[in-house]
Amino acid sequence: MTGRWPTEGLAFGGDYNPEQWPREVWDDDVALMREAGVNLVSVGIFSWGELEPQEGVFRFGWLDDVLDLLHANGIGVDLATPSAAPPVWLHLQHPEMLPVDADGRRYTHGSRETWCPSSPVLRAHALRIARVLAERYGQHPAVRMWHVSNELACHNGRCFCDVSAAAFRDWLRARYGDVDALNAAWGTAFWGQRYTSFDQVLPPRRTTTIPNPGQRLDFERFSSDAFVEHLAAEAAVLREVAPHLPVTTNYMVMGEFHDLDYAATTPLLDLVSNDHYLWAADPQGWAELAFSADRTRGLAGGQPWLVMEHSTSAVNWQPRNLAKGPGQLLRNSLQHVARGADGALFFQWRQSRAGAEKYHSGMVPHAGRDSALFREVVELGATLGRLAEVRGSVVERARVALLWDTQAWWAAELEAHPTVDVGYLDQARRLHRALLDAGVAVDVLPATSVAGPAPGVDDPSGGVLGAGGGPLDGYDVVLVPTLYLAPDGLGPRLEEVVARGGHVVVTYFSGVVDAHDRVLLGGYPGAFRDLLGVRVEEFAPLPEGARTTLDDGSVGEVWSERMTVPDATVVASFADGPSAGHPAVTRRDVGAGAAWYVATRLDGPSTSAFLATVLDAAGVAPVVPTTPGVEVVRRVDGDASWLFAINHTDEDAPLAATGTDLVTGRHHPDHVVVPARGVAVLREHA
Ligand code: GLA
Ligand code: GLA
Repeated sequence: MTGRWPTEGLAFGGDYNPEQWPREVWDDDVALMREAGVNLVSVGIFSWGELEPQEGVFRFGWLDDVLDLLHANGIGVDLATPSAAPPVWLHLQHPEMLPVDADGRRYTHGSRETWCPSSPVLRAHALRIARVLAERYGQHPAVRMWHVSNELACHNGRCFCDVSAAAFRDWLRARYGDVDALNAAWGTAFWGQRYTSFDQVLPPRRTTTIPNPGQRLDFERFSSDAFVEHLAAEAAVLREVAPHLPVTTNYMVMGEFHDLDYAATTPLLDLVSNDHYLWAADPQGWAELAFSADRTRGLAGGQPWLVMEHSTSAVNWQPRNLAKGPGQLLRNSLQHVARGADGALFFQWRQSRAGAEKYHSGMVPHAGRDSALFREVVELGATLGRLAEVRGSVVERARVALLWDTQAWWAAELEAHPTVDVGYLDQARRLHRALLDAGVAVDVLPATSVAGPAPGVDDPSGGVLGAGGGPLDGYDVVLVPTLYLAPDGLGPRLEEVVARGGHVVVTYFSGVVDAHDRVLLGGYPGAFRDLLGVRVEEFAPLPEGARTTLDDGSVGEVWSERMTVPDATVVASFADGPSAGHPAVTRRDVGAGAAWYVATRLDGPSTSAFLATVLDAAGVAPVVPTTPGVEVVRRVDGDASWLFAINHTDEDAPLAATGTDLVTGRHHPDHVVVPARGVAVLREHA
């Protein structure tokens, strides 16, 4: 990533879809944008059908006018390639580019993002329109950035059609070379699934019972790679024609979305951007937002990133379109900024009057300018304007790292596992939440980004997340939750952390299989057995809803294990349940360092208590001592620093921090009180 930023201060704006409105509304739009301080809008995401109503017949007039109008008003444009929404004529001309599901049913056009990522027809047309747009608008002074497609893989992550099947076979040939290597990798000796030629292999379409897990996992990889290739192809055209403009695509790092391995896309982008929609029914949704923002920063290598879309209020694809409460818009936006976003954009500028998302909130609601919501938008724009000096700073490097990996996620949630109650992110979220409540900073890193290079090799993050040397150098605590399939090379990196006096925490159902979902034999967890000094003989998951008590009073959920401890100290044992008497929490000391293992999913309070022990042993302190529900994050730039404090509770929260609050302009020489449901952003040092 090269880090060219599209705006002067923090970016503020949203998706702008003027084609939904008559021309006279556009003047009102730009007037309101100026009133709100908008400086960047995403244009053209779904506009292919408007731009090319028949093959080769273009209608550019409206887009010319829109870009000129925005430019005349000082508003920058993040111009999209429109491949998210191919025109109807193209779908009708080439029905074979519509995706097919695992049951063999072909989708129909009429929504968005309805195409097969392996379709050569779609690819050729998408590259054609991308080139046309780049040639026409690449030098337009309004255009600041390219926005490739939209939320790749989020609505049709996998296609099972015959074109995909052929592409899958090519992918497998390239990966395995000969079919017996595939047989060995997939364990096809089981249930007599042996292939004698790659030509016999199909995608994992609907079958009678459990499909082959190696096939399933490779199909996830193949499907993700197809979208990565699509992104690479569009980005290459844009860079060829207009190399001065940065390229992004909007991720969906939030909730359960994980069809695309984003870690594989970051080398293709100049800046990382993310769409995040708060799960409105969850009163703790703000904690999920914080986790997603930290994951996005990890993908961005610690560099500033952009919230490409979030909502001003209701999200209409959720079952209940719950409106945001007073101040929530500001809190949510500043959460992202605190965690490294250099801007906050929304879907969408003006709430639609027609179409599938007319009840999705916008920056300008149906009620228009005279509305509490628009006033909040204006206030947010003004606040972000006062925070302009933060742009380009980075979140202060944490001493705690938490590892996650999309491939491990795919593998962990395959069928016929020890229990249906293990969700890949459950333990990660719980650890993150405990750190959040304690005010302890954490960098959430893609495991593949830290597994590879040996010590001494250049830090791939450019030094922001790694202090030179190995990518985990500088982290005193490394958390490895439920990393069922550990990337090659991670074990030795974790050994190094412990050997230099750091603390590594591995939890249940980690390091169990190799890259093909084949169990590493000799006692679980094969990838980390020596690191941890434990040997698990049998998994013993709990019955639905059951809990298990540990002899130190901690409570475990979902999971237990029956293990021996050849080379570690038992910290706590199961006092009841299917593994009663067996170790539950262990610690292998190596000099000043230690490798901890936790063989159950500790409940919230037990996770906090356990982490407090580890953090204490590692000497890691909070950014600023805080109370649960009050987030504190520090951003730094050389000697300058800014402390963000966001209070999600109904009580005013005093904090031992000093400086000038950029939100209110007030100076706090002694301490600051963050108002209930409010925020403070302290400039700590000049
Ligand atoms: C039957 C099935 C096998 C296996 C066993 C054990 O024998 O045919 O494939 O599933 O039950 O569950
Ligand atoms: C994405 C989708 C849009 C809309 C927004 C808001 O951008 O592509 O159609 O659903 O999210 O939820």
